[in-house]
Amino acid sequence: MSEGVVIAQKSPYKAELKKCEKSFWCSCGRSAKHPYCDGSHKGTGLMPMIFTADEDKTAWLCGCKNTQGKPFCDGTHSKL
Ligand code: FES
Ligand code: FES
Repeated sequence: MSEGVVIAQKSPYKAELKKCEKSFWCSCGRSAKHPYCDGSHKGTGLMPMIFTADEDKTAWLCGCKNTQGKPFCDGTHSKL
């Protein structure tokens, strides 16, 4: 388990990413707007991961917050 991280859910969130659009993936697990940051990380020392898609695509963003391939699900949730 990553320190200070809350498991939002033990499965990924489906996301429709847009080319060149910035996304803020919640890394702390406390957001009310998963998979994206809503500022609830304040005071935890954790920060959202900012990323930009290189094309329009459907992606599976990590919901357990323990992936080694942030922000994408890498299957780690199945071992938690
Ligand atoms: Fe989780 Fe911002 S609310 S990183
Ligand atoms: Fe986190 Fe799959 S939801 S690794």
